[in-house]
Amino acid sequence: MFRKLGKGAFSLQGKFILVASVCLLAFTVIGSFLILSREKKLYMKDIINQGNVLAEISRLTLTNVMVYKDLGIMDEQGINDYLDYYIMNLMERDKRVRYMMITDDKGRVLAQSDLSQRDEADKSILNTITTLKAETTDEIFLNEPVLKITTPLNIDTKLWGALRLGLSTNDVTKSIDALKQEVIFINLVFSVIALIGLSLGAKVLAKPVIRLSNVMDNIKTYGDLESVGALNELPLLKDRSDEIGELQKSFLWMLQRLREADKEHKKTMEVLSQTEKMVSIGRIASGIAHEINNPLGGITLCFKNLIGENADNRTKEKLIEAINDGLQKIKNIVEQLLDFSRMSVTEKTPVDINSLINRLLVFFNYAASKKDIRIVNDFADEIPPLLIDGNKMSQVFMNIIINAVQSMEKGGALTIRTGLDNGFCVISFEDTGKGMPPEVMANVFEPFITTKGVGEGTGLGLSVSKGIVEQHGGIIDVDSKVGVGTTFRIKLPV
Ligand SMILES: Nc1ncnc2c1ncn2[C@@H]1O[C@H](COP(=O)(O)OP(=O)(O)O)[C@@H](O)[C@H]1O
Ligand SMILES: [Mg+2]
Repeated sequence: MFRKLGKGAFSLQGKFILVASVCLLAFTVIGSFLILSREKKLYMKDIINQGNVLAEISRLTLTNVMVYKDLGIMDEQGINDYLDYYIMNLMERDKRVRYMMITDDKGRVLAQSDLSQRDEADKSILNTITTLKAETTDEIFLNEPVLKITTPLNIDTKLWGALRLGLSTNDVTKSIDALKQEVIFINLVFSVIALIGLSLGAKVLAKPVIRLSNVMDNIKTYGDLESVGALNELPLLKDRSDEIGELQKSFLWMLQRLREADKEHKKTMEVLSQTEKMVSIGRIASGIAHEINNPLGGITLCFKNLIGENADNRTKEKLIEAINDGLQKIKNIVEQLLDFSRMSVTEKTPVDINSLINRLLVFFNYAASKKDIRIVNDFADEIPPLLIDGNKMSQVFMNIIINAVQSMEKGGALTIRTGLDNGFCVISFEDTGKGMPPEVMANVFEPFITTKGVGEGTGLGLSVSKGIVEQHGGIIDVDSKVGVGTTFRIKLPV
């Protein structure tokens, strides 16, 4: 499952969704953050304004009272009572006011809400008294965020004292929290919808690309550009006017060119193969001549005796039979040769591999006896008929045997073995010839690689052989040591 997931993530579609999701996430997080901080600023500005208005109203009221005191309209006790009443009243009316304190012009506390429990005027009050400037700061009061506003009680340069009030900003925090939840919820819903849309979009976009890649895959699997599978997939590629359509067109054009090149290549290989075949026949010409000559000698002798006078009927019958036998042998050889030299299309039939090799070896009897080469057969009996093109496979064996005979100038032995191994028929040709150095061995299956002189070798034999063996789903390999010998091994599926 993980592998499938990994594969999905690395597909074009997966990457697109991944990148789009990351962008989406980044945008929503940054967007939400910006919106929230702007809202918080607005809320804070609002509450600061409200706090300032409250302080300003209190300042006007309280300085009025101070003027009454200066004018003797109110006495000390009346003032103090009024200040306490004012603080109580204000805190009653505006629940956000957490504490309040009024000092005289020396910073001594005249009145305060009991919650604050501050007797001493602090630095900011003294500062306000000396500079006659209001001051607003944030602080935490009894675990609650409050806005601390300190303002002088003055008219122009006439100063009576200072006013301090703490306005809770809890509502702001609550509103922001509620807003945060709303934003997160909206973002979540939006992200889910966007993701679904993105995946659908990516699927629609990726579909033609996936289809094209499937067609390519198919051609890769079938290997053969002319195969039915590859051809059948093509109508699936609908005409499109976008970039993918262009890609499809280029691909089809490329496929067409590849098919032409492939056809051309196959034709060339056929011609080369036929050429190599003819050259092989030339190489075994003396063997063929010998195989025809042998029965021909017998026939001539029998014929002479037949037309002699003193032969009775029984002898004549025997002579005619012998002549007939000889002619049949010649006919077989010529037929086999004609069959071999024919240019044929691949045609697989059940073939007994042992007798196929035996029939070929007839052509080498003469060359082997002349060069003092022993040909040893070590054939396994249990090999079932193989579904192969006998003509083409003969060409492979013929080429390997000719090479082996050519490599044993001073005599030796060629051992041909057949056997079964793990569902394969293994045919090996082991000679005791001159062998080949590693650099030649590494390239023997390449076309036009030959160590033989002009007119001796074409360098095509083994490359043609490899092509034929692979056409049969088989493998051909070689092992060789200079001065010791060479072994070619062919594995064909049973
Ligand atoms: N049995 C062998 N012993 C030594 N060398 C070999 C043998 N078979 C093939 N070779 C080497 O491989 C080369 C390529 O063989 P092949 O493709 O049949 O072309 P050609 O026989 O026309 O040279 C030969 O030239 C030879 O050098
Ligand atoms: Mg050869």
